[in-house]
Amino acid sequence: MVRSCTGKHTFTKATVVAALGGLVGAVLVLDFLWASVSSSSSSSSSTYSYTIWANHRSRLVVISNLTDPSQNKRADVKEKKQRVPEGLLNYTFADIVAPRLEWEEMAPAPVPRLDGSSVQIKNLLYVFSGYGTIDYVHSHVDVYNFTDKTWGGRFDTPKEMAHSHLGITTDGRYVYVISGQYGPQCRGPTARAFVLDTQTKKWQSFPPLPVPRYAPATQIWKGRLHVIGGSKENRHTPGKDHWSIAVKNGKALEKKWRTEVSIPRGGPHRACVAVENQLYVIGGQEGDFMPKPGSPIFKCSRRHEVVYGDVYMLDEKMKWKELPPMPKPDSHIECSWVLVNNSIIIVGGTTEKHPVTKRMILVGELFRFDLRSHKWYSDWKASLPCENYSGRFLGMDGCILRLDSGTEDPIIPNQGRSLEICGEPS
Ligand SMILES: *[C@@H]1O[C@H](CO)[C@@H](O)[C@H](O)[C@H]1NC(C)=O
Ligand SMILES: *[C@@H]1O[C@H](CO)[C@@H](O)[C@H](O)[C@H]1NC(C)=O
Ligand SMILES: *[C@@H]1O[C@H](CO)[C@@H](O)[C@H](O)[C@H]1NC(C)=O
Ligand SMILES: *[C@@H]1O[C@H](CO)[C@@H](O)[C@H](O)[C@H]1NC(C)=O
Ligand SMILES: *[C@@H]1O[C@H](CO)[C@@H](O)[C@H](O)[C@H]1NC(C)=O
Repeated sequence: MVRSCTGKHTFTKATVVAALGGLVGAVLVLDFLWASVSSSSSSSSSTYSYTIWANHRSRLVVISNLTDPSQNKRADVKEKKQRVPEGLLNYTFADIVAPRLEWEEMAPAPVPRLDGSSVQIKNLLYVFSGYGTIDYVHSHVDVYNFTDKTWGGRFDTPKEMAHSHLGITTDGRYVYVISGQYGPQCRGPTARAFVLDTQTKKWQSFPPLPVPRYAPATQIWKGRLHVIGGSKENRHTPGKDHWSIAVKNGKALEKKWRTEVSIPRGGPHRACVAVENQLYVIGGQEGDFMPKPGSPIFKCSRRHEVVYGDVYMLDEKMKWKELPPMPKPDSHIECSWVLVNNSIIIVGGTTEKHPVTKRMILVGELFRFDLRSHKWYSDWKASLPCENYSGRFLGMDGCILRLDSGTEDPIIPNQGRSLEICGEPS
């Protein structure tokens, strides 16, 4: 199985169980648990139906009863803290009613990370660089082994490689790292690109992007590496440009990037998923922090941002088509998606700032985009121990793993904690 910010995924029940602590023989014993919940919230009144299947041997799934008021205690505490009259909050800031699942804490990541990246190759999750603090950036990779549930195998990234906001994808062996921000605070980007051979842990350089970008959507699709959008050189202006280059076995087959059809809406931090003849670009934002003019350390200062949930799809006609948007605006999700059973699952992210407190609001839901019907569902609600997690690094071994708070809000600490959850929406 291959998972990445990009990358083609194949996912079978066999891999799910195989990964569940190596418990397996060839026979799967799965417990199907069905539940149907009716519920209403202040902003809407609707009926939700959901089904979850869980392997009870994993002993990690806890499904809470939504009608039990004690389950919502922490949500109430959180709301009171913000002291905002309920009527002011629209749907974007309300928790979407969905089943609440308990997360289990895992071995903590070796270092806290913000705006780093991850790819999964088989049973290994590679987590790249990112900020340690706003004044310090990592330049190494940590590797999580899903089989023995440990971190190890740390190795360095090339000196010239970006440290955060990478465009990143894998073909299942090679990891392509394209452009991104070089250095801490709100320093400038580099157009440089590199390829990692995960079998030898050797890096090679790769043709640089025509111009640098922050956090562009990056994916291999039909033999070509595509790089789409991101923020332009000033870190704030959304880029709509789209380039591609033919790749094979970690090598570019062409000398230069080819200009492709620009995406209707630009910006960084989007999920980018290739499924057969379709390429999906999901969520993201326009605008980002910028360096304070004249600041010798390129100190970050907040600028206007618009988070959106738009979904764009490219097919063989090479024309962008707009599909139904996510249930909420959602950004910072480039490494927090997995493909399961013909659905794209997106965990967490950041949504619009709170309209009154102006604080960054993290997304607690798991959203599922059904690739057959092109409809969104919120089958799962992450339980509140995840309130400070925006779900940056997601891997899958039958469980979904997410790590690190990954928020840019200075009020919310950047923790290096790891969480996992088991089960699968139907
Ligand atoms: C959920 O909780 C409510 C209230 O505590 C209880 O009446 C109901 O039977 C519970 N439902 C299930 C499926 O456990
Ligand atoms: C909710 O608020 C956000 C941010 O102000 C806005 O973008 C969105 O359109 C609003 N949604 C509705 C349904 O009013
Ligand atoms: C992952 O853990 C398993 C089980 O301990 C071990 O056999 C395997 O070699 C590990 N993989 C790597 C790359 O360390
Ligand atoms: C989340 O962050 C807030 C603000 O720092 C902190 O008070 C709270 O304890 C954190 N919650 C969790 C579950 O870590
Ligand atoms: C996969 O999706 C199909 C169609 O939605 C559904 O019938 C099936 O039960 C799902 N399988 C699992 C394992 O969730």
